[in-house]
Amino acid sequence: MRITYNQDLTHLNTFAVKASCDKFIQIEDEDEIRPLLETDELNSAHYILGGGSNVLFTQHFHGAIVQLCTKGIHKFNEDTDFIWLDVAAGEHWDDFVNYCVKNKYYGVENLSGIPGFVGSCPVQNIGAYSAEVKDVIDSVFGYRISSKQPFTLANADCQFGYRSSIFKTTWKGDVLITRVRFKLSKKEKLTVTYKGLIEEMESSGLPLSLENVAKAVVAVRNNKLPDIREIGCAGSFFKNPIVKEEVRNKLLSEFPNLVSYPAGDGMCKLAAGQLIELSGMKGVRESSIGVYPKQALVIVNYGGATGEEIQRFYRKVQEAVERTTGIRLEPEVNIL
Ligand code: EPU
Repeated sequence: MRITYNQDLTHLNTFAVKASCDKFIQIEDEDEIRPLLETDELNSAHYILGGGSNVLFTQHFHGAIVQLCTKGIHKFNEDTDFIWLDVAAGEHWDDFVNYCVKNKYYGVENLSGIPGFVGSCPVQNIGAYSAEVKDVIDSVFGYRISSKQPFTLANADCQFGYRSSIFKTTWKGDVLITRVRFKLSKKEKLTVTYKGLIEEMESSGLPLSLENVAKAVVAVRNNKLPDIREIGCAGSFFKNPIVKEEVRNKLLSEFPNLVSYPAGDGMCKLAAGQLIELSGMKGVRESSIGVYPKQALVIVNYGGATGEEIQRFYRKVQEAVERTTGIRLEPEVNIL
């Protein structure tokens, strides 16, 4: 376990904003967790950080930030059709995806190129290009902070929803996820249904295969999303709002090109990026902060912005969208 005080967090968040915390605890071995929980260290303000790709620090964090840096991908089980892999929380998500592609395990290729750690993927049920991680998660392992007890949660008990899970709702702030067990297909099973992905596959002229789908996903991402090594951001800043069909129908009369997807129970999901575009905010830049011109759902730090400035800016985006459409967008990113 490595503990540092007054730790600079600038390189630990993909928004690349300057921030710090009282105490930074890095766990390198699962065995260090029990003793840490015994100290009651996490009973006061704390935040569990993954790869820092879904967080906006707006001020100094008064408390402890914990990061699990444990590594390892181990086979738990295998049959003729599937393989079950146990993956440590600190593995980089994209390294795991590449491992699966290389070994011909199907199920995570559409989630290629997503930054962050494996331990964070169930929290917000990461998703892209018609795939969601919930469809390949078998179970999640970790510790509850309040009870100091280990837990194992089967997929059905994780309450997965659109960018949501029990770890982001009922158990929020009370879990240290140590490991995720994935169930991946050994038989070819590809999902190429997202329009942009179909188009990319067609224009590349490459045959449909696991490697080529992964490549096409990366190409689609590169076309729309900034490279976090060059431009600070946290991917989609807002969630796509889920509204009643009546609300959608009313908006449709004003905006005939409005995109929506069925969300069950008389609800539908709108595209926040399009709502931002309709509000006139797409591509708008104020000094070093802006709405990304190629994908309005992404707020970017072109360099040197503070978290507080980004917060002020995203609120302007929220207000503009609300003025234009009556819909209040909710951040997908954790604001600290
Ligand atoms: N759209 C616009 N203007 C924009 C952006 C989007 O009109 O500036 C429209 C598009 O034309 C399309 C619709 O909105 O009709 C949806 O856009 P897109 O397919 O690009 O996806 P998204 O809903 O904007 C979601 C995820 C992304 C993921 C993509 C692709 C969320 C919050 N975001 O974005 O995830 O990559 O789908 O599947 O659900 C992330 O979570 O960080 C992330 C990047």
